[in-house]
Amino acid sequence: MDLISRRVVFKALVFLCFIRSSQGRDHFTKLNLPPFLKASRFPTFQHEAYDYIIVGGGTAGCPLASTLSQKFKVLLLERGGSPYGNRNITLLENFHICLADVSPESPAQGFISTDGVINARAKVLGGGTCINAGFYSRAKPSFVQQAGWDADLVNQSYPWVEERIVHWPKVAPWQAALRDGLLEAGVSPYNGYTYDHLYGTKVGGTIFDETGYRHTAADLLAAANPNNLRVLLYASVNKIVFNTKQGHRKPRAIGVQFKDENGRHHQAFLREERGSEIIVSAGAIGSPQLLLLSGIGPRNELKKHNISVTIRNEHVGKGMSDNPMNSIFVPMKSPTKQSLIETVGITDAGVFIEASSGFSQTDDSIHCHHGIMSAEVWSLFAFSFTC
Ligand SMILES: Cc1cc2nc3c(=O)[nH]c(=O)nc-3n(C[C@H](O)[C@H](O)[C@H](O)COP(=O)(O)OP(=O)(O)OC[C@H]3O[C@@H](n4cnc5c(N)ncnc54)[C@H](O)[C@@H]3O)c2cc1C
Ligand SMILES: *[C@@H]1O[C@H](CO)[C@@H](O)[C@H](O)[C@H]1NC(C)=O
Ligand SMILES: *[C@@H]1O[C@H](CO)[C@@H](O)[C@H](O)[C@H]1NC(C)=O
Ligand SMILES: *[C@@H]1O[C@H](CO)[C@@H](O)[C@H](O)[C@H]1NC(C)=O
Repeated sequence: MDLISRRVVFKALVFLCFIRSSQGRDHFTKLNLPPFLKASRFPTFQHEAYDYIIVGGGTAGCPLASTLSQKFKVLLLERGGSPYGNRNITLLENFHICLADVSPESPAQGFISTDGVINARAKVLGGGTCINAGFYSRAKPSFVQQAGWDADLVNQSYPWVEERIVHWPKVAPWQAALRDGLLEAGVSPYNGYTYDHLYGTKVGGTIFDETGYRHTAADLLAAANPNNLRVLLYASVNKIVFNTKQGHRKPRAIGVQFKDENGRHHQAFLREERGSEIIVSAGAIGSPQLLLLSGIGPRNELKKHNISVTIRNEHVGKGMSDNPMNSIFVPMKSPTKQSLIETVGITDAGVFIEASSGFSQTDDSIHCHHGIMSAEVWSLFAFSFTC
């Protein structure tokens, strides 16, 4: 590309970015979201009692809050802030910037597993959908069966999510190459564009729209009944409160204790109704952590941390594992269009093959890795590489 056409491309990009960000804003104002309040405002309505208190406003917590609020009084407590207006979250091109942000305000909280795997977990309303690669798929029917869910109801529920936040990707060149390569290698049949979990090669759904704007689980709160839903941000729950009155055979969860953005403690309580529940949807790490802090877990583990036992359960906090992944990095001579997972291959052995392109396009951030045999996920990354 010569200098002049590069300038034209640059200007076109600036223009596109402008359209993109204004669409982002329009998108936000178009959504009819309930008010999000900081947790320090809680004393104003601490007299309220709820049918459901949901801990964790993430991928699962937000749609639960919306659907339950149709009939019940719901309190949603999220330890992070709002995703709206944060371009690190909303724009596709900032995917890697967001994950690399290690500041205390970051929506992605980095951690390294005990086996040394670098990872991140969400700390923002919308949860993992604010920091992940945005690929959307319906569940494998056998998974739904094993989980003991009503398969009919599950199928009826998918469109509720899909209509609100899922899009079809415009297949990027690298993704098209992967699609063709997978078919050539025998990962077949080609299933075309589909949300279903099918063996073979497919193009799936994404929560990034055609302008590269990320739609998240927080958008699903627009479907809530705002009169029945209270959403608190920067509300870090550190304990489930139990009624351990004598005469009760089992301890009953009656409320939660949480810390606001200024470090002050508050308590919120359930209505004294039979069906009232605390729902723990704080993520794969956050949920067992909260249970342990509340005295639910293996006796020895609790003892070690001087936490008195509320309910003994040997399984809490156990069975965690890293998501096994092998990666191949393909350096390119010219810049590649940015893309996150669009094409996916699922082999008969249940191996997933997916790809991303165009991120970390700087010389010093490129480390060429070689593929390792056998994995549950194979990822392929394409980078531009200037020598
Ligand atoms: C880098 C990355 C890429 C990924 N890519 C994909 C993908 O492309 N497609 C896909 O389907 N999945 C992907 N995933 C996985 C997916 O994002 C998660 O499986 C999913 O978001 C989990 O949802 P959840 O509701 O269980 O937890 P989360 O969405 O993490 O929600 C938990 C929420 O609870 C809050 N919380 C935690 N503790 C507390 C507390 N004590 N008090 C109050 N709030 C609390 C957290 O701040 C968070 O918002 C990816 C994950 C990562 C990290
Ligand atoms: C985006 O992330 C960068 C670091 O990766 C950080 O410096 C910046 O403050 C973040 N922006 C916002 C709006 O959080
Ligand atoms: C749900 O949909 C999937 C495909 O989309 C289908 O295989 C499955 O049989 C359906 N389940 C029910 C109970 O209808
Ligand atoms: C352990 O718990 C007991 C009872 O709750 C408390 O009195 C004691 O100070 C705690 N000890 C430590 C080391 O935290």
